[in-house]
Parts: sequence; C-alpha cells; structure tokens
Amino acid sequence: MSTVLSIENLSTFFKTDKGIVRAVEDVTFSLEEGEMLGLIGESGCGKTTVAQSILRLIEYPGKVVSGKVILNGKDLLKATDDELYSLRWKEISVIPQSAMNALNPVYTVGDQIIEAILLHEKVSKSEAVKRTKTLLELVGIDGERQKSFPHEFSGGMKQRVAIAMALACNPKLVISDESTTGLDVLTQAQVIALIKNLQKKMNLSVILISHDLPMVTAICEKIAIMYAGKLVEWATTEEILNNPKHPYSKALLNATPNLSDPDREVVSIPGSVPNLVNIPKCCRFHTRCPYAFDRCLNESPELREVTPGHYTACFLEGDKNG
Ligand SMILES: Nc1ncnc2c1ncn2[C@@H]1O[C@H](COP(=O)(O)OP(=O)(O)OP(=O)(O)O)[C@@H](O)[C@H]1O
Ligand code: SF4
Ligand SMILES: [Mg+2]
Repeated sequence: MSTVLSIENLSTFFKTDKGIVRAVEDVTFSLEEGEMLGLIGESGCGKTTVAQSILRLIEYPGKVVSGKVILNGKDLLKATDDELYSLRWKEISVIPQSAMNALNPVYTVGDQIIEAILLHEKVSKSEAVKRTKTLLELVGIDGERQKSFPHEFSGGMKQRVAIAMALACNPKLVISDESTTGLDVLTQAQVIALIKNLQKKMNLSVILISHDLPMVTAICEKIAIMYAGKLVEWATTEEILNNPKHPYSKALLNATPNLSDPDREVVSIPGSVPNLVNIPKCCRFHTRCPYAFDRCLNESPELREVTPGHYTACFLEGDKNG
C-alpha cells in the first residue's frame, strides 16, 4: 500500500471581529491507497474546515496559515490554480452534503456528468456518453435515465448521481462530508453501503466525515477523531474500539449506543465544545476531562505515536518507546 494523502501540521484560522478562530490547529494524519478513514467529532470540531483546507476551498476571512497537504507527492497548498484545476476531479473529488448543490436543475443529469468529463479529460463526446451510462449503472441507476432531469429523481437517487459525478474522472481520493444528511435513515444506509462498495471495487481512498460513530466504525478501516480543532486520536478502527486512548474518544464511544452490547449504559458527555476564538494554549478538552491536571491548563499535548500506528494527544499517554 502507498500513501495517497498526507496532511502535516495543518492549521487554518478565521479572522473575525471577536478575534482569531483557531478552527484547525496542527492537524496531522495520512491516508493509504484503497483506505477509508472516518473523520469524526462533535459539531464545530473542525472536520469541514480540514476538508476545505485539503481542497483549497477556504475563503476569506479564513486562511490556511501553515502545514502541508501532500497528494501523491505534490503539496496542494503550493499548487498553482492550473495545477489545482487538473488535480480536482482527476485526483481528488468531493461528494457534496446536498446533491442539489452539485446538480443544476435545468440540465439533464447525463449532460452534467458528460460536461464534467469533457471539461477535464481529452475524450470524445461519444466516449463521455458511454462512460456516463456506465457510471450511472455503477451507482445503481438505469443508464437510460441520463436523459432525466434532477427533479425527476428521489433524494436518494440524486445523491447517487452526485456520487457518479464525483467519480466521473476516476479520482483516487474522494471526500464525503456528511453526504447523506437530509436523507431518511434507510436511504442513508443504502448510500453509505454504495460508497463502501465503490471504494472496494475501485480501490478508492475515502475520507468519510460524519457524526455517526456506529456507522463509521462499521465501515472505515481507520478513524481520526477531532476535538475543538485538534486531532486527538488516529488509529485503526479495531484499536479505537478496543483500546481507545484519549479521554474524548472514550467519552464519544460511551455516548453512543453499542448494538453488540445493548445493556451498556449510554453516558452523554457533559459540557460543550469550547469557543475557539483566541483560545489559550491548553489541552482543549480540559474543561470536560475527568482526568485534567495542572499541566493540561497551560500546555497543549502533541499528537504522538503511543503504540505502532496508534496516535493520540494526551499527557497521560507515553510514547511507544517510553
Ligand atoms: N467562515 C467562518 N468564519 C468564522 N468561523 C468559522 C467559519 N467557518 C467555520 N468556522 C469555525 O470553525 C470551527 C470549525 O467549524 P467546522 O465547520 O469545520 O466544524 P465541523 O466539525 O465541520 O462541524 P459540523 O459537524 O457542525 O459540520 C467552528 O468553531 C466554526 O465556528
Ligand atoms: S491532556 Fe489532560 S485534559 Fe487533555 S485529555 Fe489528557 S488528561 Fe484530559
Ligand atoms: Mg461540517
């Protein structure tokens, strides 16, 4: 396996009237070829800001202030606009939160996928039409429906079309940011199963951003957990489930019903995510952490590899050599 994406010490801040929002600070993780990584954390923890920073979609008053986003050996943060244009779609693409944001109501779904292919690849129109039919069939829609308009599809079908569009130019990495929000529970499960199926079939690397911890643990090979703009734990799903290290990860797991242990008490996490404006140097979880001690109030713990392949940021955890 080779590394497809490597994010190193990424920090993205927003300048506001009230001060600097340190939305993402010093975030590091990577993704292997064919791997699905779940990026989770409560609302406001910085998941979308990480995704938008990777895609270079952060707009004023936001700014990526430091770090590297290496995609197949190239730092996206240093890429020119032309380089980015050719990398988007062909190397990296997004499944949007709402299919309506991706689909134009006045064109047929087929024409929209065909246009995306023709804009980014040197292929003939007839090849693009053929590929569009194949793509629609890949996501479980009759290829003949390419002549239909978005309003002729159900919400779940529109989301499938959005997935087909994201795959139009054979990207190696796909980012899905809460892409099933707004769909009913059954359709959500079907769309997520489809993404998993396509990941395996096409050997895609996927970053799956979600609040749904049981779903993420069921389908992702690895999990990265964010809290208040920091990455607090990153490991295989098996390690996160059986050997969570960070108090926030443990609290998140305890706050989620466990189907294989229905008698286990579900305990919600007291308190809330802190305001990230001008946040002082500290462990950002200290206000909610039952183990917090003096050091946690004045220093920010670094992300460290505590056992091979298992990273966490907590003063209570020694490193793998310690
Ligand atoms: N344009 C902006 N201006 C100021 N602050 C912002 C802006 N966009 C995001 N933020 C702040 O950055 C932090 C991270 O937000 P982000 O949207 O990345 O979180 P998230 O984990 O994706 O949350 P959710 O689960 O609700 O989607 C929050 O404190 C948010 O208020
Ligand atoms: S560093 Fe301190 S406050 Fe932060 S999670 Fe560890 S023990 Fe809790
Ligand atoms: Mg978000």
